[in-house]
Formats: sequence, structure tokens, C-alpha cells
Amino acid sequence: MSSSPVVEFKENTVVVVFGASGDLAKKKTFPALFGLFREGYLSPTTKIIGYARSQLTNESLRERLKPFLKTTTPESKLLVDDFLNMCSYISSPYDTAEGYQKLESEINEFDTLKQNKESHRLYYLALPPSAFITVASKLKEFNHPGSKGIVRLIVEKPFGHDLPSAQALQSQLSPLFTEDELFRIDHYLGKEMVKNLIPFRFANEFLTGCWNNQYITSIQISFKEPFGTEGRGGYFDSIGIIRDVMQNHLFQVLTLLMMENPKKFDSESIRDEKVQVLKSIKPFDPKNVLVGQYTKSLDGTKPGYLDDDTVKPGSKCVTFACMSLEVDNDRWRGVPVILRAGKALNEGKVEIRVQFKETNGLFDSSINRNELVIRIQPDEAMYMKMNTKVPGVTNKVAVTELDLTYKSRYHDFYIPEAYESLIRDCLKDDHSNFVRDDELDISWKLFTPLLNYLEGENAPTPLPYAYGSRGPAELNEYLEKNGYKHQNRAVYQWPITTPDVLKESKI
Ligand SMILES: *[C@@H]1O[C@H](CO)[C@@H](O)[C@H](O)[C@H]1NC(C)=O
Repeated sequence: MSSSPVVEFKENTVVVVFGASGDLAKKKTFPALFGLFREGYLSPTTKIIGYARSQLTNESLRERLKPFLKTTTPESKLLVDDFLNMCSYISSPYDTAEGYQKLESEINEFDTLKQNKESHRLYYLALPPSAFITVASKLKEFNHPGSKGIVRLIVEKPFGHDLPSAQALQSQLSPLFTEDELFRIDHYLGKEMVKNLIPFRFANEFLTGCWNNQYITSIQISFKEPFGTEGRGGYFDSIGIIRDVMQNHLFQVLTLLMMENPKKFDSESIRDEKVQVLKSIKPFDPKNVLVGQYTKSLDGTKPGYLDDDTVKPGSKCVTFACMSLEVDNDRWRGVPVILRAGKALNEGKVEIRVQFKETNGLFDSSINRNELVIRIQPDEAMYMKMNTKVPGVTNKVAVTELDLTYKSRYHDFYIPEAYESLIRDCLKDDHSNFVRDDELDISWKLFTPLLNYLEGENAPTPLPYAYGSRGPAELNEYLEKNGYKHQNRAVYQWPITTPDVLKESKI
């Protein structure tokens, strides 16, 4: 699919951030560019132009951005002004020619000053989807370097609302920018632990042998958020947790976790294999999905979802979902894969849990399953629950773990923010961690019937769960029915200590 040679944007790149006065740009895009600059991954010869409708001056844009640029050392404080001086601003509507013409003349002026005259442009659309096509078509008309250079366009989710809208968006975008030029951001793909999935899976021979349905009995990918919509439910109400988290982020994690070996480690081979996993997923049974909506917290201090004034009364919007699916190929047939996501839960955490089958024979049923836990956030960690002899005067066997907690294992390492990592990939022309058009198509094909059911006339009423709880009361039963076994919490808590019950009593 990809044909053009890899060109790294090192020097003299122009980065244009559309939607520069908005929240996403202020909180994510500019701080990510600054992070790269601070760490030495973005050249000081880069020109950054913010573009938006708001009437700002260069100075007022800089003032606005400043509080969000994170500094780590006294030296890096000095870099803030250097960075801000690389940034300027163009105020113009998105749908008229003048702003784009001004932009073009600024870029041309910049390009003529440099030795290598090839124009390197990175356009970042930090914009709502309603503005994508307007801006993309103007960029194509006025700001495409053609044979004089190279352009890359970063777009942010949502990529459609369902299959028809995603296809419509794609059919409008594809005549304007090629797949090579497009970088669709799913910021989960920039998270350290998600980027680690490919090396972890394919550089460890001991895993290769057991990474299949002979040894693995269930997989769970869960996303838990400790807060609700907090007065901004109007936006969420038409989205719901399934679109917000599952169709994109959790599916990306799933495909990396479950794909076959790529032929090569280049972006197209990797994305080809991700697509193969998606194609193997069996259509979902909408009736086998547990959906919930949060209510007031038990102590009454936190409001329920429907108490949010911006939510339409009686909304059946799903704020919690748990679903079991199957990847129907030789490697994974029969292994339930549980996706679980919710707002207003007891904690904030994103993690993968892979449970292995029980050992048979010698040990009794009190022996726990091996379980590999990959914690994506917060505090990156990986640990494998193992059964070993309890140390000391005893023959008891208990769970402990091989523990790779990044904080304790790695020091003096800078782990980039997801957006930093992805913008860096884009500058290097590496598409591996961006979403390809066919991935979107297949995932929307899978999710659209479910969404239509949940949002249709006969939509089920979501099960209630209290703000701050683990989710609907039916959750445990659902997990168990779908192959996930909870460890006995009386004898196992992570991080591990040896509980008294496991110590041998003295005479
Ligand atoms: C910002 O500065 C540039 C020159 O660096 C200028 O062309 C542009 O008009 C200024 N933008 C605003 C909004 O004043």
C-alpha cells in the first residue's frame, strides 16, 4: 500500500496547527511539540504556525500556550521562550481563501531562506470532524507543495460516528490526501506500553510457544475512569463509551496483542496483520453485551449521569460496557476476549489481563492460574503471576510475580507523552502507530450493528451502577461466564506480601 520512500522531517519543517486556539491544541498538540523540542527531537529550525478563527496576536497565542508547556529542569525553563519564538499565529476563517493564501506565502518565504528548497509540511488538524473536510480541501487547493515537497496531514478522531459516516468521511478525504500523506491519530498507539506490545510479543521466544488457545484461557482489556461527565455530558451523550473508548483505543490494543507475526517490522506489514485480526473477529451478539449507566454515588456526593443538565432526560447513553468477543482463527478460536470500559468507576486504570489455563494434575484447585498483567496506565508495569513455594518453613505454594514495574526498574528514562511519541513517528514518516483506512472500515462494520441496537427504538435500558463502584452488580457473573476467573483476594494482592494464612504454624 505504501510506496513512497521514507523521508524524515528533520530540519526546516513547517508545522501548522489548525484549531490552534482550541483546547486540544493548547493541552496536547503544542505541549507535545514542546516536549519533543525540549528533549532534542524537534529541530530549532522548525517553524510552527498556529491557525484558527479566534482573533489572537502572535503574543497572545504565546501567552495562552505558555502555562501548558511542561518543564522538567531549570535548563528546560529557558527553552520555553525559544520554543514560543518558533510559533506564530494566523487568524482566519476556515472556509475562505485568504488565510490559506497568507499561510502559503509565509511557508514559501520560509522555504526560500533555506538551502534545501524541498518543502516539508506537517499539517495538524486539531479540529472537530465537522471542519475536517473544509480545511483539508482548502489545504489541497492552496497549500499542497505538489512536486516541490512533501506534506503530511495528522487528523484526530472521531473518524466517523458509524460505518456510513466513516465511509463518507473517507471518500471525501481520499481524493485530497493519499494514505501515505494521512496520519490518523489514536493516541493509545503512542502510549509506551502499547508501543511495547510488538517487541514484547515477538522478541520473546518463550511467549511464542504459549501465545495461543492451547495455553491461554481468556483475555481481558479494560479501561476504567474514576470520573463521570461532570457537566459536559452533552457531548458524551451522542457518543457513549463504546465509541469513545472501545471501537478505537481498546480495539487497537486488541489487534496488537492478538496479531500474527508481521512479515517485516514495517508499518504496512504490521497494519496488514492488524487488519487480519479484525477480519477474524466474529460479529458481535448485541444481546451478549453488558451495558450500564452510572447513578449517584452511594454517599450521595457525586451526581448520576442523568443528573447532568447537559444530558437529554431519560437518555439511555451507555457509560459502561463489557463485551466478550471471539477472534475466530486457528490461534485464538475458543478464547473469550473481554473488552470492558466505564466512566465513574472506583479507579482510573487501563490494563490487559491474559489468563493461562490451570495446571492439571499434581496440585489441587487452590493453585491460581498464571496471569500476565500489562498495565498501560497509570504507572507502566508488567507482571506475571507465578506459583512458587512460599519462602520459609513451609511447602505451601502461592502466587507471586515476576514484576517489571517501570518506576522501580528504570531510572533516568524519559517516557514521552503519547502525542509526543506519535508526532515524532509522523516526522519520521512511520505509519505503524497510526490507523489505516481499512482498519477503520472493519471495526466500524463490527460495531455499527451493536450501536444501532443500543441506540435504536428497542434499546435496552442500561443497568444502573453507583458512581465510584466497579460497575453494574451483574459484572462478576458476566466475567465468570465469559472465562475470566478472579484470584482469591484473601491470599493475593498486588504488590505481593506473604499473607499470614500461608505461613506454617509453629507447634
Ligand atoms: C505573526 O508574525 C508574523 C511574522 O512572523 C506575521 O506575518 C503575522 O501577521 C503575525 N500574526 C498576527 C496574528 O499578528
